[in-house]
Amino acid sequence: MTSFPTAAVLGDPIGHSKSPRIHRYWLDKYSISGEYTRLQIAPDNLARALDALPDLGFVGANVTIPHKVAVMDLADEILPNAQAIGAANTLYFEGGKIIADNTDGYGFIANLDQNAPNWDKTRPALVLGAGGAARAIVYGLIQAGLPQVIIANRTLSKAQALADELGATAIDWSDIEDTLADVGVLVNTTSLGMSGQPELDLDLTTLPFDALVTDIVYAPLITPLLARAKSRGNTIVDGLGMLLHQAVPGFARWFGTTPQVDEFLRHEVLK
Ligand code: ATR
Repeated sequence: MTSFPTAAVLGDPIGHSKSPRIHRYWLDKYSISGEYTRLQIAPDNLARALDALPDLGFVGANVTIPHKVAVMDLADEILPNAQAIGAANTLYFEGGKIIADNTDGYGFIANLDQNAPNWDKTRPALVLGAGGAARAIVYGLIQAGLPQVIIANRTLSKAQALADELGATAIDWSDIEDTLADVGVLVNTTSLGMSGQPELDLDLTTLPFDALVTDIVYAPLITPLLARAKSRGNTIVDGLGMLLHQAVPGFARWFGTTPQVDEFLRHEVLK
């Protein structure tokens, strides 16, 4: 039994997870006698790990690839965000129960609120991509009250399925440039623009100059899309903040202090 409240990130592989840096920074900043560790858990061992961790003094966990969907079947209680998104990234071990939450949609919106406080919630948002990250972001944008969330994906059927499930609108990838004129928020959730990947080749000419452009890619921090948007005067928000903000609710519930996302944390995670 550990003497401190302990949380972990569970994944396979797990070496590249930034979560330990984020949570250890906050434990140190707020002088909390807790611990945060990383555990490589193979899919076959996930159920046994979740069974054992609460008894070993763990108060909860983050879950990452490949466990975000599998963990839903192992939880005793699923909170509404995780239910709606269909995956969990945060677990609370409380009163002998495993409670599953998803904080990615919250993290996306909180990042915009912190870095572009007056971002426009009155015009439609256009989300590029329809993978796991897009699910949480579309959900977050709908929860934030935007009048319409439009999804464009290379594979239209995936955009359509996601749109039908969450109450959004799907468009063909080739219709993106025609749609840009109507949007107040443009989000890239595809892997395009990531180091080592091709650029997102998009003509921004029709995008309103007061639209916000954001990318969930954070390596590089300023993707070619963000650089082009900034150079024509659009407000941009990089993707690192979503990663940092999604960690806030877990830390708050495990350790009893709501942490701040500050500049020092950004530096710590980028080191
Ligand atoms: P994540 O969980 O990070 O969202 P993912 O589920 O693998 O990752 O989704 C990756 C997204 O990037 C998908 O929307 C994918 O489009 P497809 O559904 O058509 O595969 C998109 N993507 C990847 N490479 C792309 C490319 N070259 N052009 C356009 N979209 C691309």
